[in-house]
Amino acid sequence: MSKKSVTITNNETGESVELPLLDGSQGPSAVDIEKLYRDMGILTFDPGFVSTASCRSDITFINGEDGILQYRGYPIEQLAEQSHFLETAYLLMYGDLPNEGQLSNFTRIISHHTMLNESLKNFYNGFHYDAHPMAVMVGVVGSLSAFYHDSLDIRDPEHREISAHRMIAKMPTIAAASYKHNIGEPFIYPRNDLSYCGNFLNMMFSTPCEPYEVDPMMEKALNLLFILHMDHEQNASSSTVRLAGSSQANPFACIAAGIASLWGPAHGGANEAVLNMLEGMGNVDNVDQYIARAKDKDDPFRLMGFGHRVYKRYDPRARIIRKMCHDMLERVSPDNEQGPLFELALRLEEIALNDEYFIERQLYPNVDFYSGIIYRAMGIPNNMFTVMFAIARTVGWVSHWMEMMDDPQQRIGRPRQLYRGAVKRDYQSIVER
Ligand code: SDX
Repeated sequence: MSKKSVTITNNETGESVELPLLDGSQGPSAVDIEKLYRDMGILTFDPGFVSTASCRSDITFINGEDGILQYRGYPIEQLAEQSHFLETAYLLMYGDLPNEGQLSNFTRIISHHTMLNESLKNFYNGFHYDAHPMAVMVGVVGSLSAFYHDSLDIRDPEHREISAHRMIAKMPTIAAASYKHNIGEPFIYPRNDLSYCGNFLNMMFSTPCEPYEVDPMMEKALNLLFILHMDHEQNASSSTVRLAGSSQANPFACIAAGIASLWGPAHGGANEAVLNMLEGMGNVDNVDQYIARAKDKDDPFRLMGFGHRVYKRYDPRARIIRKMCHDMLERVSPDNEQGPLFELALRLEEIALNDEYFIERQLYPNVDFYSGIIYRAMGIPNNMFTVMFAIARTVGWVSHWMEMMDDPQQRIGRPRQLYRGAVKRDYQSIVER
């Protein structure tokens, strides 16, 4: 049977070229256009990459029409319900769920890379106390390559693996330290006797002055939130990490680039923007004016936490977090200050989902719409929400980076453009202008 293909014909010149049609294991097929420029001298044009597959990947599958998300084939709902951070991190990095021995070894390795070089404390002191924690994360993560000259040969699989382990292990320590710097409290060292999430909570909330017990409910909630945020195929920040890595930059520089991209309010920065929006909204009486602004083409305001490039149904992660919000707020004191915020979010969602503008554009709540409410209920401030996203997404970033660097056909990513600038013209002396 002949290979599947599509034919592109230039109706102006009558030229045609047959291009291979590639099938994945799930999801849409892709036209391999590599020969197009060579054979027809034309480019494809797809700003925002709406219809462009940038790579082959085995890591995460999303079906936006049916609201499906799978990590290495496992439905996100099952992992969220039954797995925990390090087990799912192993799955994303290595492709299969670990057995007991593999999980125990992975846990030991990650635990033993959680500390930072002591001289990094001086780096933190260079930031003003009220520096946004994401600015600190970009700077500190980017600086890590200054400490590990012994393992930065990215052509060496062992160096790549230890760099990935170091990134996963150190992100919570770097994040908690950026929070402590923000509030002027001493940094808390990691503890290897605690779980990944328990250790993070301890570094965030314990102080040298009194004992701190990790709340099992918060630890469980954090495990679930981190699993939901771990990966999402070729989103903007993961694509940034891949593009940075394609030039063979060191892994810490690539992850720092990913953090910078995630920070944008159109991407991971939306969770902080949602809480700022809800707090600005105040109460449900103001919902209509915000909805009107979101629909007004002349107003740059968008309903934060709504819409998604791929999901044209309810984001499966938002559904899980919404239920978690409900369960958690039911359990904590009914007059918990997050209660009114959650009620407002539910009301905003209900109004938006019945509004023609949102229905027509298939705009549903995404992963960022409810996550901030839970983080706030945990005592995590708004400016740390995207940092939480970055801790979890580091697993996806390093997994994509390793997958790309393991590919023998890996080459530098270098898109072209549709040039619309000035055509050739001669230089004129200033008196002639
Ligand atoms: C994340 O890619 C990923 O997988 C990301 C992520 C991950 O896990 O990595 O899922 C995490 O980033 C979730 C998204 C968080 N961002 C926000 O919540 C910010 C608000 N949402 C929008 O900015 C927007 O929906 C995007 C950025 C998420 C998606 O933008 P697209 O796909 O480019 O859609 P678009 O801008 O072309 O919008 C299509 C239409 C436009 O109207 P028309 O020009 O057709 O009339 O929908 C409108 C937009 O104006 N629209 C919105 C809207 N989102 C889209 N209008 C009001 N409020 C919104 N939130």
